[in-house]
Amino acid sequence: MKILIIGGSGGIGAALVKLYLASKPEAIIHATYRAHKPILENTRVNWFKLDAASEQDVRSLADSIPSLDILINAAGILHLPNRKPEKSVNDFNPDFFHHNLNSNVVPTINLAKYFASHLKSKQNTYFIALSARIGSIEDNKIGGWISYRCSKAALNMAIKTISIEWKHKAPNCCVLAFQPGTTDTRLSKPFQKNVPSTKLFTPDYVAHCLLDLLDTVKPTDSGRFFSYDRTEIPW
Ligand SMILES: NC(=O)c1ccc[n+]([C@@H]2O[C@H](COP(=O)([O-])OP(=O)(O)OC[C@H]3O[C@@H](n4cnc5c(N)ncnc54)[C@H](OP(=O)(O)O)[C@@H]3O)[C@@H](O)[C@H]2O)c1
Repeated sequence: MKILIIGGSGGIGAALVKLYLASKPEAIIHATYRAHKPILENTRVNWFKLDAASEQDVRSLADSIPSLDILINAAGILHLPNRKPEKSVNDFNPDFFHHNLNSNVVPTINLAKYFASHLKSKQNTYFIALSARIGSIEDNKIGGWISYRCSKAALNMAIKTISIEWKHKAPNCCVLAFQPGTTDTRLSKPFQKNVPSTKLFTPDYVAHCLLDLLDTVKPTDSGRFFSYDRTEIPW
């Protein structure tokens, strides 16, 4: 089994790398970091430095990896050192909006462009993007966080679109959006105050949830949006 985790240096990404190492001793694991190579030293992990928003970086990575069974994009941003998600449309800043699109949407489309052939197989393969419930238009009851929300809605549309195109190009590939729930990582740290402890998950728990989901889904499930508890979220 050959696995690629994008954003393997992040909270959820690192938990996925560790869980695959522990649970799939035969797996070849490729993982990426953008800024700092993770301390986790294990000869079974091939680390690559990658900015997933860079088409050139993604193309070079694709050239370095022959084929894959599973690609999980666990990269993304919610806030920057000088900018938090908007409470109101009045806080809108076009640069921050573009940064959200570049970090939360462009990587998945770049990856689909350069890894479609890697995931074309007679066996079942998986192309997964970590999305967020906040990106569901139907589920939007409270508004706010307009840049992140729009970027995850756009990511969801990208996943649905890729799933339709790949029904012919890579018919055994299951293309999904996955919502991890609020998870205790750098991304959610500033927003955890009002989250009940039972609703704040560890990255390890979420990694288990995603692997359990992948054990149950098939290519016929392609184009769906699943939550950590395997319930389906409306687009
Ligand atoms: N944590 C939550 O509560 C939560 C809830 C819903 C959805 N999610 C989604 O889950 C995913 C993972 O989040 P997390 O909680 O694990 O956050 P995290 O700990 O902040 O990790 C995010 C990772 O994304 C990487 N990254 C960002 N932009 C990148 C780019 N252009 N190219 C390559 N890597 C890039 C970061 O790399 P650097 O560290 O090098 O910048 C980091 O490794 C995100 O898509 C997030 O939106 C998280």
